[in-house]
Amino acid sequence: MNIAMIGSGYVGLVAAACLAEIGHNVICVDNDARKIEALSAGSEVIHEEFLPELLARHRGRRLKFTTSLHHAVRPSEIVFIAVGTPPCESGEADVSFIENVCRDIAAEINGHGPKTLVVKSTVPAGTSDWIRSVLVRNGVPASNFELASNPEFLREGSAVTDFLYPDRIVIGSSSATGTELLRRAYLPLTSGSYHGCVSRVPQPDDSCSPAKLIVTKPATAEMIKHASNAFLAMKVSFINAVANVCEAVGADVEELVQGMGSDRRIGTRFLKAGIGYGGSCFPKDVSALRAVAEDRGCDFQLLDEVMRINENQRKAFLHRVRDALGNLKGKRLAVLGLAFKGGTDDVRESPAIALVQSLLHEGCTIQAYDPAAMERAREEFAPNGKITFASSAYETARNADALLVLTDWEEFLTLDFARIRSLLRQPILFDGRNLYNPDRMQDLGYFYFSVGRRE
Ligand code: UGA
Repeated sequence: MNIAMIGSGYVGLVAAACLAEIGHNVICVDNDARKIEALSAGSEVIHEEFLPELLARHRGRRLKFTTSLHHAVRPSEIVFIAVGTPPCESGEADVSFIENVCRDIAAEINGHGPKTLVVKSTVPAGTSDWIRSVLVRNGVPASNFELASNPEFLREGSAVTDFLYPDRIVIGSSSATGTELLRRAYLPLTSGSYHGCVSRVPQPDDSCSPAKLIVTKPATAEMIKHASNAFLAMKVSFINAVANVCEAVGADVEELVQGMGSDRRIGTRFLKAGIGYGGSCFPKDVSALRAVAEDRGCDFQLLDEVMRINENQRKAFLHRVRDALGNLKGKRLAVLGLAFKGGTDDVRESPAIALVQSLLHEGCTIQAYDPAAMERAREEFAPNGKITFASSAYETARNADALLVLTDWEEFLTLDFARIRSLLRQPILFDGRNLYNPDRMQDLGYFYFSVGRRE
């Protein structure tokens, strides 16, 4: 099939590369000329496992890049919209990028055969109906296009495998033609016939069956996305609240999760206590769903609590550092991890960045290291601020008063902590992600602080 992907951010770029991988011809559009130039030249614009391999395999063949919506939309049967929907100050999702794109698409559709427009961006329930009216208002007869909602559930860091081996594919469409076209587009994934260059990464509670196809109304598809992210964020806030109680009563949250998660109705995933969730999705989607509920007069204060607990989790961690070190002013702190989670260079809404900002504000000097996110993190801090970036985890630790681990990078699990201890001025370790065994750290001579486990 010929497909246009409008928006080459995380979702658009990964989806485009994966759709090319399963056999489609995809033209990826973005109005950022520098990004398109970089992508066309083969530069890595985002850090994502297997993406370089897919881009190298399909670029210039089944996958092309352009800044021209015209060139992308005209030859395509399916036009995916994957532009951003950032939060407004009110918490609502800002859908103005979608509106602009729809106006531009309207100019390209007429006279070029019926097109199926598919919204991949995360949008509030009801957006599909509104898009229909935008297109009609911009002169496109309703018979000239089909509209569908097809939310994306990929996680940063494992986006390619999430796309190619999804748990489910959700199609929200009010027309049989649109549904059928998307059903065909995804057939290699729903039939299990995809056997390309990216193999499946088995998960502990994985059934290994092909993706389940869920066909529903557009509003339900839109709600599935918001409710899924809000539910996962709620799990994280739930376990963080439980962790705080664990600490107060002398219980261990990590062992608790094993006990709780052995109930298959609960499971152990997304129950990792720490400094709270971040990223470009959870914070925005929880407040967007909250805003939809508020707007429709539905009681959903539960989501306010999810957000409040998340905020407090960072503050509680900061208090812990302050309490243990006495005074923060003038302290030199080593920070491992700046990305909002391991496996990505993304620092948007990163709890690690927020904590570092607070520590700088309190007069600390920071030496930071992240395996992938330092370049992006640098832009978050004022130049000449009291933060430096080290070339390795070990360099970060040199002469620091304490070490803070703020992101769950896999490479932090295998660090030589005896060596780090010898580099630190004081053997104090604050683990904001519960990465290490408290007994082991104590044996190595650390004063070890984590979340929901009494030291
Ligand atoms: C999330 C969803 O997991 C995806 O399904 C969805 O497609 C995506 O948002 C999106 O809407 O585009 P992502 O933002 O990449 O994916 O990150 P997650 O892996 O979900 O983690 C979100 C945050 O929760 C991170 O800060 C992570 O550190 C934190 N987290 C996660 C915890 O603190 N504890 C956990 O147990 C799990």
